[in-house]
Amino acid sequence: MDLVRLYLDYNATSPLSQSVLNWLKSGEMLFANPSSQHSSGKFSRKVINETRSLIYKTFSKSENDSKLFFHSGATESIITFAHSFSEWTRQNKKELLICFSKTDHQAVTALVGKFLGSHVKFLELKISPNLNYQHDENFKNLQEMKASNPDLVILYHHLWVHNETGLVSSLESLKIFKNIPDLYLHVDSVQAPGKTESWRHLNVGDIFSFSAHKFGAMKGLGFSFFKKDLPFFPLISGGGQQGSLRSGTENPLAVMSLKLALTDLEAIDVSKNTLQRIKLEEFIKAELSGLGHVITHQNQCSNTIYFYLNSYASDIALALFDLEGMEISAGSACSSGAAKESAVLTQMGLHKVARNGLRLSFSFQLSDEGLFLIQERFKRVVSRLRN
Ligand SMILES: Cc1ncc(COP(=O)(O)O)c(C=O)c1O
Repeated sequence: MDLVRLYLDYNATSPLSQSVLNWLKSGEMLFANPSSQHSSGKFSRKVINETRSLIYKTFSKSENDSKLFFHSGATESIITFAHSFSEWTRQNKKELLICFSKTDHQAVTALVGKFLGSHVKFLELKISPNLNYQHDENFKNLQEMKASNPDLVILYHHLWVHNETGLVSSLESLKIFKNIPDLYLHVDSVQAPGKTESWRHLNVGDIFSFSAHKFGAMKGLGFSFFKKDLPFFPLISGGGQQGSLRSGTENPLAVMSLKLALTDLEAIDVSKNTLQRIKLEEFIKAELSGLGHVITHQNQCSNTIYFYLNSYASDIALALFDLEGMEISAGSACSSGAAKESAVLTQMGLHKVARNGLRLSFSFQLSDEGLFLIQERFKRVVSRLRN
């Protein structure tokens, strides 16, 4: 059986972008340590510096306002800033409040189980059953907490584009929080590049974290911006390869892939992909009639469709999709792949189907042919389900 597999799990990780593939095929493997002073080392450093400049330019930031460092990905970044804030507040005898939402990525929710010091507390942000942040209520609550404790420093996590549902929660709506003194906004920007029209506009926020493998570069690399005047205490110290921000030898090969992938991403027409998503979503809604439901939002990113089947847990459903060559993902699964209750579906009050969430996340540029192939395969899965 010649089954062309359809990779529809871009939110987990994207395939390497075309320029990265072309470059790897050329065989030019950057291997030298960028800290070495010979010509090969200097070439690696040049690539890193050029990539830094490109990142600054892409996001309209500058060395004058923001610091930038590479790390292994957003998971590292999130724990790095939690550690940094904890250290800063500990040294200044202040209290730290880390705000999160229970539908955040696990890189954030897992912080709650960590001991970051007895001066560190957590606050769960309120979200509505339709998954929108309850900004007014959260603002009022935080304002009161700050008024009653002037020594409070707040690290506020905001998930820009939701990895499971594709819901886009705008940065503009966060402006109000900047009225609270000593409140710092960390924007989890991992799923934004190429999927929401404003992905380059980091207008509101103090810290932004990205993972390069979500937009066509290699895995094990990410980067973060943060406001220049923000005190910072590195999680990983040692040889000082990135000054006082992070130690450890940089990976020039991965950094080069980031440079190429980011350049490819610039050419993406997000609004065009959104139209493809809408077509596919309408199709899936009609196909699923009586079998399941699509969960969609007014502000939805351009590549993600989240749905559930009424009577199949996601691990069973995934196997069915896989048999038809469709590589999709359970909205939430444990590392063994077994279906887990989704925090999203639970928050929506959909307890009976909380293990049934499925996510289809496709390329930044879905062609008409690609759309047709997905529709064809989806029909086959549905016909298996109905039989
Ligand atoms: C929204 C979001 N935040 C954080 C992460 C963590 O990124 P990484 O696994 O690259 O460290 C992910 C990865 O799936 C994500 O989707």
